[in-house]
This record gives sequence, C-alpha cells and structure tokens, in this order.
Amino acid sequence: MKHLLSPQLLFFVHALVAVPAATHLAAQQANTQRETSAANEETGESINPGINSNFLDPELDVDQWVARFEVESREVYQARKEILEQMKLTSGMRIADVGAGTGFYSILFSEAVGEAGWVYAIDLSPKFVPYLSQQFDQRKLNNVTTVMCDQDSICLPPNSVDVAFICDVYHHFEFPGDTMRSIHRALGEGGRVIVIDFERIPGVTREWTINHVRADKATFINEIQDAGFDLIAERKIPGFKDNYFLEFGKRSQ
Ligand SMILES: C[S@@+](CC[C@H](N)C(=O)[O-])C[C@H]1O[C@@H](n2cnc3c(N)ncnc32)[C@H](O)[C@@H]1O
Repeated sequence: MKHLLSPQLLFFVHALVAVPAATHLAAQQANTQRETSAANEETGESINPGINSNFLDPELDVDQWVARFEVESREVYQARKEILEQMKLTSGMRIADVGAGTGFYSILFSEAVGEAGWVYAIDLSPKFVPYLSQQFDQRKLNNVTTVMCDQDSICLPPNSVDVAFICDVYHHFEFPGDTMRSIHRALGEGGRVIVIDFERIPGVTREWTINHVRADKATFINEIQDAGFDLIAERKIPGFKDNYFLEFGKRSQ
C-alpha cells in the first residue's frame, strides 16, 4: 500500500510516536527491575549472585587490579579531579568511600577533608582491605580508617558520615536495599550520596557493560529513592561518556 503521507511528514509522525514509545519502554523496564529488586528483598536472595566473586577471591592479585583501576583510560580515574570538584568536599567533612577498591579516591578525600575531617575506606574484599590499610600507613594518613564491611551493610555507626561515595560499586551491591538503608543510617542529617555508575542503554552501550551491569540509571534511581533518598541532581562531568554522576540527599524520616 502506498503511503498517503509525504516522507517528511512520515518522519515527523514516526518521531512523535517513537520517542514516547521509547520513553514508555524505558519506564516499563525500570519498573520491572524495581519489582525484581523488591522480590529479592522479600526472599533475602542476592540480586546478582557471583558479581563479586573476583573481589572475594582470597587469591586476588592486587597489583593486577591496581593496573586495571588506576589507569587514565578508565573514565572514573581520568576524571578524578572533575569528580572531586563536583562533590564539593570541605575541610572537616566525614566521608565514606563505599567499595574503596584500591583506594585512590580515599587518598584524594583524605587531603580534601583535611585533619579536621575523616575518611572511611570501606570494602568487603579480603585482599583489598589489608592493602588499603598498608597504603594509608605508608602515606602516613592519620584521618582514614579502613573498614571490612558485610554484603548487606557498610558497618558504620549511625550519624557517622556526611557523604557516601559509591563509584563503580552500586551495580556490585548484591543486597542494594539493605546496603542503601545502612548508608541512610550512617549519614547525618542533610547527608549526601554520590553514585557514579555506567550508562546502560541497549543499542548504545557496549556489550560487555550490558552484560555486567544489571540495570539502567532509571532503575537505580528508583531503588535508591525507595531506600530513603531524594535525587538532588545529575551533575555533568566533562570527561564522562560511559558514566553518569548522581547526587542524592538523605530524606528525613
Ligand atoms: C569495580 S570496583 C570499584 C572500586 C573503586 N570504587 C574504584 O572506582 O576504583 C567495586 C568494589 O566494590 C566492592 N564491593 C562490592 N560490593 C560491595 C558492598 N556491598 N559493600 C562494599 N563494597 C563492595 C568490591 O569489593 C570492589 O572493591
């Protein structure tokens, strides 16, 4: 059948129909993921079994991960100064580096918050945790504590931090609701959470990331809001192509 509309008009009609359809699909997918997350909470099962097997391996080779994490070709390493600027840390602040990994962010935070502030470098990897302590000792940092945490809790006392930093870690949380609620408790009034994670856009994002990261930004925002936070803003990091930077505020009860 011949089209009764001109190609230009057809394109316009398609755009009108396709864009809302795509938005609708993304919202639908986010809702489905949110239901999966809620179902896992009820059964107490990990939402992503095995995602941390590398980090939990007692034979993990730390040097190999230093070479992988602290390299200029990694966006979150290359853009570390821009990220730090956007976090607006000031002297005296207390910050939780959740999933500190090899610790390069904890070291930057230590300097940013100064002697009056404090940094908690938190991880669950039996090889990263002692490595972190060793690094901080070598640098004679006297405002950093290393914390070995649990899969479902960052293991900090109530009202102990002002900012929680979650960089390339949220998609590794196996119990995101429990972990985020433990962060909620650990934050003081007016506390903030920074989440940096990978964009996950089918057809745009590379296959490795699609397979590695369980859900997209909209899903993660919903989950974090459900745990008691409000989205304050998405901040622009000029060096980012594959990642996003979200800032949340602790919602008062
Ligand atoms: C991809 S690495 C990112 C490390 C560091 N944030 C960076 O950007 O270089 C993920 C880290 O999160 C840690 N991790 C995974 N699940 C965690 C949890 N529930 N609580 C704390 N850390 C966790 C892992 O052990 C690992 O060190």
